[in-house]
Amino acid sequence: MDLTRRTFLESGAALAAGSSASGTAANDRIQIGAIGAGARAHELIEGLLSIPGLEIVGVVDAYRGRVARAIERTKGRAKAYASYPDLLADKSIDAVVIATPDHWHGRMVLDALHAGKDVYCEKPLTFRSSEGVEIAAAARASGRVVQVGSHGMSSMLQRKARETIQSGRLGKVTVIRASYNRNTASGAWIYPIPPDASPETVNWEMFLGPAPRRPFSLERFFRWRCYEDYSGGISTDLFVHLLTTIHYLMGAQVASSVVALGELYLRKESRDVPDTMNALLEYPEGFVVNLSSTFNNQTNNESSFQFMGTEGGLSLGGNVYLYPEVAVEDNRWIVDSWPRALADAYYRDPKIREIEMPRTRPPRLIDGPSQFREEGLDPTVVHLGHWVDSLRTRQPYWEDALAGHHAAACAHMVNLSAQQRRLVEWDFSRDDIKS
Ligand SMILES: NC(=O)c1ccc[n+]([C@@H]2O[C@H](COP(=O)([O-])OP(=O)(O)OC[C@H]3O[C@@H](n4cnc5c(N)ncnc54)[C@H](O)[C@@H]3O)[C@@H](O)[C@H]2O)c1
Repeated sequence: MDLTRRTFLESGAALAAGSSASGTAANDRIQIGAIGAGARAHELIEGLLSIPGLEIVGVVDAYRGRVARAIERTKGRAKAYASYPDLLADKSIDAVVIATPDHWHGRMVLDALHAGKDVYCEKPLTFRSSEGVEIAAAARASGRVVQVGSHGMSSMLQRKARETIQSGRLGKVTVIRASYNRNTASGAWIYPIPPDASPETVNWEMFLGPAPRRPFSLERFFRWRCYEDYSGGISTDLFVHLLTTIHYLMGAQVASSVVALGELYLRKESRDVPDTMNALLEYPEGFVVNLSSTFNNQTNNESSFQFMGTEGGLSLGGNVYLYPEVAVEDNRWIVDSWPRALADAYYRDPKIREIEMPRTRPPRLIDGPSQFREEGLDPTVVHLGHWVDSLRTRQPYWEDALAGHHAAACAHMVNLSAQQRRLVEWDFSRDDIKS
């Protein structure tokens, strides 16, 4: 893929370059280390390799086979490190990409900032909401770049949807529905385990880190999303994408209150997190979000959104569809039960006729529905391109530490509500969940 730096500059993400605060001059090659070299990290490495001006020089992972594959993917350029603190201690590394299981994110981001590195961390930024408060403060104090990896927000479609909503074309949006429905083992995170995985090739202690001690388990290591020791399940894995998009499109920060129900109905043999989650999140800007996900049916799109406004609706999935709202008042069945004289008088009123008898109005054209599709670079590559621009310009991109904290915290509120069967609220003064 031929991708010039101009592509990202022209996308509006970056401004002038020049010498940066980190010492990464505009034309220097940026040296990147990969912390975690699992499935997502390999996609990120592939994306980064297509962006000029940078090099992936270090890699660390808890399964030997993935380190080997990362070295192969970087054509031998990346060096293997024994642990992530060793990688962070290498002064020649400017920035790190963190794509480990979620229970590691907070600590790794903080350690990376402390070591003076810029950071790209996969979503969710946190495993616990309080980590987000700490990370946002550390990012601010250090002046390092932190970008979070809900790449969907970098798609042209989401930008179009954001412009449409922000322009007021939908009127006042008060309800948003979004869902993620799947019904496959792979969709439900029951991934194949590499046949050479064993205590010799898998570093169990490195994986566990801050998590509770458990006996060695390849299921836990390779299917960690299924276990609450390492993941918040549907909410932090999938809802966090939906929430990031909703916050971006609506110009919103964080929900003020949340109620949710989550249940493990069917896939009990494979996990201790719910396979079905439904949540309502209320925002101080005056709208409510209804999130729904099941792993037991995929009739609807794997991921889709409906933004419902007084002047129009917008649906977002593989396309953006815009539907003008054509709402016609009709009280005929009510008025027809009145005494005839009163009903006749009601419809003789020219104001009523204009509103309720559209056939008597002068004709007009209604614009739409309209549809937008997208082609070109994968949003993951575009998202990484924005990060690389930020590394040079020192201008943060939209999905920074605070945006990552808020999206993840909403997902944590959903889990807390479902687990404790209660309304969970946001404490705006502490920028954290109300205890
Ligand atoms: N943006 C997206 O669409 C997207 C897609 C997939 C995954 N993700 C995110 O990426 C992250 C990784 O997910 P994945 O699917 O690649 O999981 P994965 O299990 O394939 O990879 C995680 C890797 O981290 C390694 N690891 C664990 N502890 C480590 C440690 N202490 N030091 C170094 N490496 C360690 C593991 O050995 C494993 O190879 C998750 O946070 C996930 O939410 C994001």
